Amino acid sequence: MNTDTQKALDRIPNPVGLLLAGNKKDYSVITVSWFSQVSQEPPLVAVSVSPQSSIAPVLDKEKNFVLALLDGNQEHVARTCGHHKDVVADKIREANLTLTESQAVAAPAIKEALVNLECRVTSQVPSGDHLLYLAEVQRAHMSSRTGNQLVFADRDLFSL
Ligand SMILES: Cc1cc2nc3c(=O)[nH]c(=O)nc-3n(C[C@H](O)[C@H](O)[C@H](O)COP(=O)(O)O)c2cc1C
Repeated sequence: MNTDTQKALDRIPNPVGLLLAGNKKDYSVITVSWFSQVSQEPPLVAVSVSPQSSIAPVLDKEKNFVLALLDGNQEHVARTCGHHKDVVADKIREANLTLTESQAVAAPAIKEALVNLECRVTSQVPSGDHLLYLAEVQRAHMSSRTGNQLVFADRDLFSL
């Protein structure tokens, strides 16, 4: 891709969240920003995941995930979980997060997230250098606290 196209695409603001798959004892977690709602009825989301990411094989096997939306004060969480760690639990520990059980899926949720969306994968579509996972939201849990959302634009993180 040429530099102008890349710079133009970087101007698209995206929300920031954590994608979790597996279960509370054996899980994978990465930071994501390429995701969106794509249908109202049924409620569907699409998340774009690198095939090199540790979570891709777990998503393909388990076919469910939690998408946890981060707030504007959780920049350090996005950065910590957005880099490879040899021990995945180090991401959660270094980001000071608490894993909780989900109700509709096996994947764990994040206690400190603004919103946890418990999703079941309906399809996986290879899309260029990423894999696009379409999934139906089974259950949505909103935190009682209010907070601005964290967004990624122009290769930087901002509080909305
Ligand atoms: C702000 C931000 C947004 C990211 N968005 C995505 C994304 O949408 N999809 C993706 O596959 N990786 C994304 N990444 C990169 C992954 O989070 C990163 O490659 C992953 O955490 C590495 O962990 P792993 O080695 O366990 O796979 C993002 C990273 C950051 C910091």
